[in-house]
Amino acid sequence: MSKKILLSGVKPTGRPHIGNYFGAMKQYVDLLRSSNYHCYFMIADYHALNFIQNAEEMKNNIIDLAIDYIAIGLDPEESTIFKQSDIQAHTELAWIFDTITTMPYLMRAHAYKDAEAKNKEISVGTFNYPMLMSADILLYDADTVPVGQDQKQHVEYARDTAQKFNNIFGETFKLPEPMIMKEVAIVPGTDGQKMSKSYNNTISLFAERDEIIKSVMSIVTDSSGELPVNVYNIHKLFRNENELKNIYEENKGKYKILKETLIEDIDNFIKPIREKRESLVENRSKIAEILEKGGKSAKKVAEKKMEIVRKMVGVAIA
Ligand code: ADP
Ligand code: TRP
Repeated sequence: MSKKILLSGVKPTGRPHIGNYFGAMKQYVDLLRSSNYHCYFMIADYHALNFIQNAEEMKNNIIDLAIDYIAIGLDPEESTIFKQSDIQAHTELAWIFDTITTMPYLMRAHAYKDAEAKNKEISVGTFNYPMLMSADILLYDADTVPVGQDQKQHVEYARDTAQKFNNIFGETFKLPEPMIMKEVAIVPGTDGQKMSKSYNNTISLFAERDEIIKSVMSIVTDSSGELPVNVYNIHKLFRNENELKNIYEENKGKYKILKETLIEDIDNFIKPIREKRESLVENRSKIAEILEKGGKSAKKVAEKKMEIVRKMVGVAIA
């Protein structure tokens, strides 16, 4: 049986948190280990350029994210780990998609609407974000795109764009499916809202013990209900619910004990990946090699697809 193709990516915009991990990155690891997929894990650096406009910071973030990928268990021998900017076909295809896409259609994107509602100035790159992401996905004929709930609409943009291109120029692109794990579609942060780098409510995926203590102690507790919901909702990522229900029943109202138990559980979970990460940090040149190798292998696939696309639109005249 031939393997299905999986592609996903994260922007190198800062340290990943447990929302990124349980919402998306854990699925990368599980699906790679299932051996049912040929996996592409991308570092979406050109998407990140909309947010990070400092060369040193960008460079460090890219290397950090590559290390994170490997530390959580993405094996570069078993998958293709690469950065978007190494493959020109992504921006080339995004341009072609721009030409068949209308402004009102892009104005329906949540990210655009949010920025508009907040009266934020929005760059053309942010406006076109879904077209670059469509190119990322469609160049590799991806069947499956594991993401958190907030990216669902972007994968729908990729599907619509594939369909539109196919209607205009003829069958070229496969329609991808988002893969969203229901229970962790929106991981809550320390304040109960969606955990996000932009809300200052995160628990870092590679946090040191004192950082974990600080984050857990800052979880907002609400004494009105049966149990501290915000603590419980984060805790259930780390322990099965039957065990957890007993613990919360036995320690009703004892928020300090419950938080201490959560600290232990998070620390036990993070410790091995934190240690793996530390061992990788020492060998930065190896990371650059891995990205170079991944880039070469992704490029072969993307270029082959681009040759077809150029023929389909008629710019390849030979
Ligand atoms: P952030 O909102 O912190 O900037 P990103 O936009 O970089 O996160 O998201 C990277 C991946 O992690 C995406 O697939 C996204 O859907 C997922 N993700 C981010 N935050 C959460 C969350 N709180 N719950 C579930 N998935 C999330
Ligand atoms: N937009 C995604 C995010 O903010 C990152 C991303 C870029 C991506 N290209 C992708 C995710 C392709 C999946 C597939 O998290």
